[in-house]
Amino acid sequence: MEKREKFSSRIGFIFITAGCAIGLGNVWRFPFIVGKYGGGAFVLLYLLFLVILGIPVMTMELAVGRAGRGSSVESFRRLEAKGQKWHWFGYPFIWGNYILMMFYTTVTGWMMAYVFKMLFSADSKALFEDTANTFTHMLSSPGAMFFWMVLATFIGFLVVRLGLKNGVEKITKRMMAGLFVIMLILAVRILTLPGALEGVYFYLKPDFSKMMAYGWQEVVFAALGQAFFTLSIGMSAIAIFGSYIDKSHRLGGEALSITLLDTLVALLAGLIVVPAAFVFKVPLDAGPSLVFITLPKIFAKMPLGFLWGALFFLFMSFAALSTVIAVFENIVAFWMDTYHWKRDKAVYVNMLLLIVLSVPCILGFNRWSAFQPLGEGTNILDLEDLLISNTVLPLGSLVYIFFATAKKGWGWKGFLKEANTGEGIKFPEGIRVYLRYVMPVIILYIFLQGYIGVFKK
Ligand code: PFF
Repeated sequence: MEKREKFSSRIGFIFITAGCAIGLGNVWRFPFIVGKYGGGAFVLLYLLFLVILGIPVMTMELAVGRAGRGSSVESFRRLEAKGQKWHWFGYPFIWGNYILMMFYTTVTGWMMAYVFKMLFSADSKALFEDTANTFTHMLSSPGAMFFWMVLATFIGFLVVRLGLKNGVEKITKRMMAGLFVIMLILAVRILTLPGALEGVYFYLKPDFSKMMAYGWQEVVFAALGQAFFTLSIGMSAIAIFGSYIDKSHRLGGEALSITLLDTLVALLAGLIVVPAAFVFKVPLDAGPSLVFITLPKIFAKMPLGFLWGALFFLFMSFAALSTVIAVFENIVAFWMDTYHWKRDKAVYVNMLLLIVLSVPCILGFNRWSAFQPLGEGTNILDLEDLLISNTVLPLGSLVYIFFATAKKGWGWKGFLKEANTGEGIKFPEGIRVYLRYVMPVIILYIFLQGYIGVFKK
């Protein structure tokens, strides 16, 4: 077997995998979902899902990657018994990675566009006051969105082309360090504004009545989707990084560290956005446009607002790009492992492919806006997001759960041995029955309820 590339350090592995997890889900989606579903109550539910569902599935993915030493399809193929077809699941996982990037690169492009706008736009009235117009104007300009999407895709593949150690590891590590520094500066700036503590109070105080107003099923569905999405579990994006590490550390502990870093960034992003909205009395339930329409108004009221704005969107761009790079690495590794393509070829072909595949999401906001796949006001991005967050990720997680716990798969013994090889926190042996029988029921139940909810609306 060909020698597989390895990370140069354990910290590199943890930062890159956390970089895959930390993304738009943390900095863009989390604050507005929390705002919508009642602050602390939702946060509690989300944390619960991370612990009871997220960490076990992440450990399983890492184990499949590390023991199978391959990308999506190959690692299953090496671990399954002769004649079994588990590796077939590897293909839809990779399609999932493509679908995710079909909208993720566009939103990453928005973030980068806003860094540029903050720094160079001469029209500060448009940027800081007519924020809704500025955002709508961007959404109605397919050319501009295309430019930024291509730039995001290009940067992502450029880093992946440099290789695992010299590109992905080196650059993502720096970007994550930058992200933490910027985030801390922003948090201190916002939290020291008069009145910010009221926002912190709302953010952390559970308000179950607001949650109930939406119906508990909807809220639980949202929390579950968010938990899977934020950790990047269920479609082999995490497994690939397991395939690049040695056996020196137990995987439960690694999954815990990655989840903690991811949660820290989500909670801090909320601590920046929610109190800021409170101080400047802007509605929190603005949804996805919150950071583009609402936040610039806040920066406008701060001295050196354009600089804070630029830093904020740079923070968003780093988070998004670290995920784009990680997912591109998974896609490229798939072609290298399964079809023995050279890294360069896989990079160039997929760069072109993804640029083309990202076009529908862009057109969904303008030329194709009449197509509203999930009901009035929805667009192609919503459809792609539903396919990933609420479909591929929960169902894909079920695949990992069954594979790691069922006799007809890799099996509990194989999984446990891999997960517990090395030093560190041990994955508990006694929870097999929970993982095998209870967890799938929870996931399936919430998954079905959620779908019924979406189509009943
Ligand atoms: N975890 C990423 C985020 O929070 O933005 C999104 C994501 C990446 C989901 C990779 C799934 C995945 F496989």
